Amino acid sequence: MTIRAANSAGSMERSFTIVAGDTIGLTPQMGWNDWYSYYSRITQADVHSAADALVSSGMADYDYQFVDIDDAWARRLKTTDPQLGGNTRDAEGNIRPNDRFPNMAALTSYIHSLGLKAGIYTSPGPSTCAGFEGSYQHEADDAREFARWGFDLLKYDYCSYRSVSPDLSPAGLKKPYGMMGDLLKGLDRDVIYNLCEYGKGDVWQWGEQVSGNSWRTTGDLGVEKGDTLPGFYHVAFANMAHAEYAHSGAWNDPDYILIGTVGDARHSNAPAHQTNLSAEEQYSYMSLWSMMAAPLFFAGEMTHLDTFTLNVLCNSEVIDIDQDSLGQQARVLRQTGDELVLKKKLDDGATAVALFNLSGSVRDIGVSWQDLALAGTFVTRDVWRQQDVGHEASSCSTTVAPHSVMLMRLTPAK
Ligand code: GLA
Repeated sequence: MTIRAANSAGSMERSFTIVAGDTIGLTPQMGWNDWYSYYSRITQADVHSAADALVSSGMADYDYQFVDIDDAWARRLKTTDPQLGGNTRDAEGNIRPNDRFPNMAALTSYIHSLGLKAGIYTSPGPSTCAGFEGSYQHEADDAREFARWGFDLLKYDYCSYRSVSPDLSPAGLKKPYGMMGDLLKGLDRDVIYNLCEYGKGDVWQWGEQVSGNSWRTTGDLGVEKGDTLPGFYHVAFANMAHAEYAHSGAWNDPDYILIGTVGDARHSNAPAHQTNLSAEEQYSYMSLWSMMAAPLFFAGEMTHLDTFTLNVLCNSEVIDIDQDSLGQQARVLRQTGDELVLKKKLDDGATAVALFNLSGSVRDIGVSWQDLALAGTFVTRDVWRQQDVGHEASSCSTTVAPHSVMLMRLTPAK
């Protein structure tokens, strides 16, 4: 299918492939998740405002479509707070949201009315990581209820399952994740399944077998790692190692894009602050996630979006690399303490190449077509600036600022 658009500024066309079948989530999911902004303070009104902001900011036009509620929507165990505590389930065993979420079905229906999708969170254990009711022994009730409410994504977070079974072998972990995977598949609804067990038992090797569409490969990025270096570099290096397991419908998940105005989990009432990452570091962060075909979930505050953050999140040519339909996660071509070169094949025959300067001083970084296993002349395009910068027969080299990146698309010259 080809879509053409034209106005006084010019015209563009783009072809799309429509795929029907049993596999969902064919490109990495994109959206927003509340955890790193709201933690256990999240309310229905916050989610509502975030959905509005996805549309009014223009992010939805770039395909940021999931509005994900993380932990803390259910009833809290062990609390005297009447707003959060009380019976966790009704007489039939149906899970009850806490008083901050007065009407889940109305919330998802509002999200859907904006053309967006809704995500929810629970744990296979008796309680979630933040101490709210989990799904243990109510897995089928909860899968059914989430579908009835209209959710389109489930993040299933290991948390207290260790108290049910301490078995962290692949077989031990596949049990709870497989049970929920089968339940979701049996629903009369497409629900994206995000496994969150921090990479235990080499989840990348079996996540797809339990119907996972993505799986976290590491522990939490968190404000401690997301906000300063080498935090997100280390998370990316760990995630990069599992490139061979990612493909269309089944993605390695290195956690969220924590830029913009971010909260602080450690102090629940600490004021939100602007990320400490420099502009160059934020370009590197977004480039790493896009080269790795990672799910792109912005995790800063939707209601305090600044122009710079939006520009990092919404560069269509960068997003194209993440969403490329070939579904390849970048391979490491070169990695030293100072440099990282990643390569990713794209659906149209082009190759994305990212030259990262990991060091604190300016560096010239080059790559030859031979290193890339390419031959011929290529047009080199600076993806962040959306400009063709060269026409090269054998190699290219560029000066990269400290902690910055040159993200390129190499297209065979006609
Ligand atoms: C774990 C997960 C996080 C978040 C919290 C919620 O730490 O890894 O992504 O969902 O639980 O409590």
